[in-house]
Amino acid sequence: MPDASSGSSAADPSGEVDRALSEAAASRPVHTPGDVLLEVRDLKKHFPLTQGIVLRRTVGHVRAVDGVNLTLRRGETVGLVGESGCGKSTVTKMLVALEKPTSGQILYKGEDVTKMSGRALKQYRREVQIIFQDPYASLNPRMTVGDIVAEGWSVHADIAPKKGRLQRTQELMERVGLNPDFVNRYPHQFSGGQRQRIGIARALALQPEVIVCDEPVSALDVSVQAQVVNLLEDLQNDFGLSYLFIAHDLSVVRHISDRVAVMYLGSIVEEGTDAQVYGSPAHPYTQALLSSVPVHEPHLRGLKERILLQGDVPSPANPPSGCRFRTRCWKAQDICATEPPALVDRGQGHPSACHFAEARAVVPTE
Ligand SMILES: Nc1ncnc2c1ncn2[C@@H]1O[C@H](COP(=O)(O)OP(=O)(O)OP(=O)(O)O)[C@@H](O)[C@H]1O
Ligand code: SF4
Ligand SMILES: [Mg+2]
Repeated sequence: MPDASSGSSAADPSGEVDRALSEAAASRPVHTPGDVLLEVRDLKKHFPLTQGIVLRRTVGHVRAVDGVNLTLRRGETVGLVGESGCGKSTVTKMLVALEKPTSGQILYKGEDVTKMSGRALKQYRREVQIIFQDPYASLNPRMTVGDIVAEGWSVHADIAPKKGRLQRTQELMERVGLNPDFVNRYPHQFSGGQRQRIGIARALALQPEVIVCDEPVSALDVSVQAQVVNLLEDLQNDFGLSYLFIAHDLSVVRHISDRVAVMYLGSIVEEGTDAQVYGSPAHPYTQALLSSVPVHEPHLRGLKERILLQGDVPSPANPPSGCRFRTRCWKAQDICATEPPALVDRGQGHPSACHFAEARAVVPTE
């Protein structure tokens, strides 16, 4: 495997890409730093379950996403964490308008995305980009890297004039740490980490404001994960990007997130700043997730609590009544089966969806 990287901190020598992205950022209407870019309100996606070959009838619904609320402010990173199948990718697909919500709202700069069409939707699709989990499946194997990175310009021709596209593509490659001489190579000639850099360059080519990162490092080796996360952080600092960063591993999200939302079976169970969620988790599910995060500091190892969750995640086609976590919760009481707990602050300083929320330091910090 040739090393197609040219260094993770590479910048294009002419500075053309940096200039274009910075100009795009500067030309945007003036907003107060930290103003809300994306707001998700009571978002739901229920997939119909059908039976029968000739006469198909709906026999139920998979409640993949069942009432998610999220806010993403300019320049910040929100981490969304949860086990496999809890609905993370379904949320991201709705956010980038690949799936239509069953109900709820996605507001982008105050406009309802689910009601957008024509020019407004085209503009939204440019400004909100996605990076996928699988760097092998998300790149067309028959296209060269150059064509993949430049593909979006066929729809958004105003961003890059036809004449200078090759140079612009190579500058983008350099900016994400890829050797620009490899512009005519195919995805299979790159390693996993390099392919993810191609995906980042493709997203960056459209001068986005928001990048939804759906488990962008889960398929990569740990050392390569850190390089890709560092690159994303550099790009955020340089161009004021906002990220929704999805992961199933709390330790990955911790490194990059300003705020963290923990998801279980279709809804958010706890939300807070990095320090709140890691330092004083209040929901039993967050506490269990945190207890499986490795502790790297040698003197703190052995001090961490280990909470082993019983049972499997229930089916989203038939979720438990009341609190969805109750079938695996060691604190469950009668009320948990009848009353769904609201996501509110019960005195811990940040919201959690548990009737008996109680801050508990699971991971030692000092
Ligand atoms: N098109 C679909 N039709 C029916 N069910 C679906 C569809 N897409 C997803 N689901 C179901 O919705 C639930 C949530 O899936 P989703 O892919 O959003 O989870 P996830 O949190 O991204 O999981 P992972 O960590 O494995 O990527 C799963 O039970 C899944 O089987
Ligand atoms: S509401 Fe009840 S079942 Fe749900 S997490 Fe809290 S204690 Fe456990
Ligand atoms: Mg997923």
